[in-house]
Amino acid sequence: MKRRAALAATLALGGCSGVQTPLAPVADQAHSQYDLLLLMLWVCGIIYLLVLGFLVLGLWRARGGRAAAATPMLAPADKRLGRLFAVWVAVIVVGLLLLAVGSFLVERSLAAAQADETLRIRVTAHQWWWRVAYRDPASGRWIETANELHLPVGRTVRIELGSADVIHSFWVPNISGKMDVIPGRANAIDLTPRRLGWFRGQCAEFCGVQHAHMAFDVKVETPAEFAAWLAAQARPAVTPTDATLAHGMQVVTQGQCAMCHTVRGTAARARNGPDLTHIGSRRSIAAGTLTMTRAHLQGWIAQPQAIKPGTMMPTVTLSPADANAAAAYLESLK
Ligand code: CUA
Repeated sequence: MKRRAALAATLALGGCSGVQTPLAPVADQAHSQYDLLLLMLWVCGIIYLLVLGFLVLGLWRARGGRAAAATPMLAPADKRLGRLFAVWVAVIVVGLLLLAVGSFLVERSLAAAQADETLRIRVTAHQWWWRVAYRDPASGRWIETANELHLPVGRTVRIELGSADVIHSFWVPNISGKMDVIPGRANAIDLTPRRLGWFRGQCAEFCGVQHAHMAFDVKVETPAEFAAWLAAQARPAVTPTDATLAHGMQVVTQGQCAMCHTVRGTAARARNGPDLTHIGSRRSIAAGTLTMTRAHLQGWIAQPQAIKPGTMMPTVTLSPADANAAAAYLESLK
């Protein structure tokens, strides 16, 4: 019995912390929505308990049998019941007013966020990954990466959202609510993160067989760390001197990989798949499906359809030596 209770408590509380839950808000937007959730839970919970209480009371008082039912519950002369009824109506009106005013204030605070115009971020949803582009404040060029969002703490940034194919939904539960990502329509969402750390975003609209594997990592960092990261992402890939890495570079940038991917500073310039220029600096691969390790990179190159059935990444036949070199090269792209 004790063990069952402990298990139930663990399951119930398991959702209250973590890197992908709206119950542990770390940004202004998630905070105001969390407060609204609490208000709704309290108001609806209290009304629900009152209704159940009166139901039990009514059953208790009516247990005398059918004879009692012949007496009308609310006789015209019964002023006490009349007053009780007025109080009940007042409780409902106050409850509804609290909900209406609470949601109005939260809506207003979300709409009032003043996004920092100097930092522009575009996120484009693809089946089943996220193209992420930052405008370089120095050059004005767009710098691309994928499946990883870096945000400076304490700044309000507006994420411009677009879709390359079907309807997706952008959702980082600890930071904000969901925003639909619709083909042919420009949506945006403002984020003001307040706590440093890694969080996890997830597509929240069914968009095909690999919808569940359409996640991304979000890192909230200090402004200095963010500036250093952005400067590093803006640089082209380094040309390796090591023999294995140089062979890997040749496999990736002059073989079939280059038909879909870009590695800035090399001959690979296609834009069908994620930009690989600094793939080794990312935390995961295949849109949050695997952690970033050389073994996972090699597995992903060799058998993408086994890891993520239906992925747009085709199976490229490489010799084990070529696959090994390609994985080593990609891992070195920090
Ligand atoms: Cu994209 Cu679900």
